[in-house]
Amino acid sequence: MTHADRGGLLLTGASGFVGQSLLLRWLRRTDLPATVLVRAADDRAAQARVAGLLEGLGADDAQCARIRALAADMTDFDPADVAARVLATGAPIDHVVHSAACVRFDQELEAARAVNVQGTSKMLDVAQRLHAARPLRRYVQVSTAYVSGAHDGSFGEDDRRVGQAFRNTYEQSKLESEELVTRHAAGGLPVQIVRPSIVVGDRESGWTAAFNVLYVPLRALVAGAVAAVPEHDTGVLDVVPVDYVADAILSLSDAPADGRVYHLTAGRHAITVGQLADAACKATGQDRPSRVSAETFAATLGETAAGRVLAANLGDYLPYLDVRTTFDSAGAEAYLAPRGVRVTPVTDYLPRLIAFAQERRWGRVRGALAARTRTLLAR
Ligand SMILES: NC(=O)c1ccc[n+]([C@@H]2O[C@H](COP(=O)([O-])OP(=O)(O)OC[C@H]3O[C@@H](n4cnc5c(N)ncnc54)[C@H](OP(=O)(O)O)[C@@H]3O)[C@@H](O)[C@H]2O)c1
Repeated sequence: MTHADRGGLLLTGASGFVGQSLLLRWLRRTDLPATVLVRAADDRAAQARVAGLLEGLGADDAQCARIRALAADMTDFDPADVAARVLATGAPIDHVVHSAACVRFDQELEAARAVNVQGTSKMLDVAQRLHAARPLRRYVQVSTAYVSGAHDGSFGEDDRRVGQAFRNTYEQSKLESEELVTRHAAGGLPVQIVRPSIVVGDRESGWTAAFNVLYVPLRALVAGAVAAVPEHDTGVLDVVPVDYVADAILSLSDAPADGRVYHLTAGRHAITVGQLADAACKATGQDRPSRVSAETFAATLGETAAGRVLAANLGDYLPYLDVRTTFDSAGAEAYLAPRGVRVTPVTDYLPRLIAFAQERRWGRVRGALAARTRTLLAR
């Protein structure tokens, strides 16, 4: 953040994977207040929930004292009421970061829209009210690169509807929410849209709060439960570490907020499913599974008991093993790289991701290693 920033942050999704990382950075790198909207019975319960979260992340008392938590469910709040409660905290807001979302791929369209589209609509209303009271520096919509759907080829930061088919209601509802945001940008709200790709753990420590998406096939690979993997040249895996996403969102504080989209993606550092399998085997000293075409890969899963377990666990993620989209992140990189915020290939830090996941028994260990988490995040 720059010295010009004297106002605080209003953050949704603070209890989520990306939100936790962002909030902790905000507390460590600024001396500014943060107001967070979280699901809770009331504001007191919201404050208690966030205090517990911050304690687990290793925030100190002075950092915790800068947080005000307000209860708000994205599917069910009155924007006028929330804006009034935010203003009543007395903490001026410069940055609204809307990270809360339903990230499940198996929701009915209306359920996904209730959080992702209607929730965004409410947050835009809140932002407009705050902007009228005191100009905001920016409203940041945390979207996803996979608004691309199953687009074949390069998908750019200016691309939106390119005739793509959506794999699920998550992709569709996230694109619809972007469209709402763009309309508000045209109406004068200072807006940025950031599109991360697949977010994994911290590059230094391996820390993650979520063991879904990439961790499911990784776990099966590391357990030696995968007999075959797709050919080397199929299945683009665009993976970014959570520290890159959080650093980028903070660093973009001075970047144009005119409705523009920033791809927080690996871009030219993206790998393939086969390359990930090789790297995982190398990191854990295992033999490489044999290779099959992407088409026969799904069928081979059904041939063994372990494969069937993997297929069941992969479930809605299975279509992401055959992605043919590459993401052009030229705009974001041109801004971020000179500021020292750079993405690197996941193969460089994969051993740390695996080591952390193994230590946490792939998400089955919670709480017991809180102290270790604090140490890791303190770095
Ligand atoms: N993780 C990725 O790989 C990835 C990739 C690309 C884009 N993104 C985007 O990044 C953002 C954050 O994702 P994440 O990985 O941090 O997800 P996450 O760990 O599942 O966190 C989701 C957050 O949204 C909140 N939320 C969900 N429904 C809500 C509701 N009805 N009202 C209020 N809050 C609600 C959750 O609160 P509770 O704790 O109360 O459930 C949680 O704080 C999302 O917008 C997502 O689309 C994520």
